[in-house]
Amino acid sequence: MSDVFQGRITLAITGASGVQYALRLLECLVRADYQVMLMISRAAQVVIATETTLSLPGSSEAQERFLSEKYAARLGQIRVFAREQWMAPVASGSSAPAAMVVCPCSTGCLSAIATGASNNLIERAADVALKERRQLILVPREAPYSEIHLEHMLRLTRMGAVILPASPGFYHQPQSIEDMVDFIVARLLSHLGIEQTLLPAWGEKLL
Ligand SMILES: Cc1cc2nc3c(=O)[nH]c(=O)nc-3n(C[C@H](O)[C@H](O)[C@H](O)COP(=O)(O)O)c2cc1C
Repeated sequence: MSDVFQGRITLAITGASGVQYALRLLECLVRADYQVMLMISRAAQVVIATETTLSLPGSSEAQERFLSEKYAARLGQIRVFAREQWMAPVASGSSAPAAMVVCPCSTGCLSAIATGASNNLIERAADVALKERRQLILVPREAPYSEIHLEHMLRLTRMGAVILPASPGFYHQPQSIEDMVDFIVARLLSHLGIEQTLLPAWGEKLL
């Protein structure tokens, strides 16, 4: 299936504030013709209901249909996996994509990944990414960070994960929330090696 797309990315949406970053990233990945292995934690579903006007259905099958229609995805381009769907490709190093993004990443999920908990498919997929030395990008959001959060971030950085906090810059003079969201999504796409036109690179002309 991945052969028909530009590539495959695992995207996990967990219950930190800022689900807009994840939804915009999903939209950009679909537009760039990437297949997305998507997981949405229960807490993330609460945050989506709180922070957006989206009426996301409860089951992973219905979420897959809903998001595929919303973002005009090709058949099989967005695949949504449930919390304990252990037979999903992301659960094994033999078939997991080369890159995984957890966006936003709750401090609970950050802690579970840092300690190898693997109690649900998101945590297991991140554990696979670490053990296989694949690309793992985490987008935490909390304020302030406790010593526990900071220690976990340091530990994960040392293991090769990239901590890309949901802290948009202001030097591009954002005019809207969408501009601020795009700041982070642009950085994520750059790290994933996907060409982006959301934000000019530093030193190039601002839009
Ligand atoms: C509306 C809302 C906003 C939240 N914001 C944050 C946040 O910014 N950062 C965070 O770490 N947790 C936040 N939480 C708490 C997490 O959702 C909670 O710790 C949850 O257990 C995380 O589970 P998950 O990692 O499985 O998604 C928020 C919860 C809700 C309902």
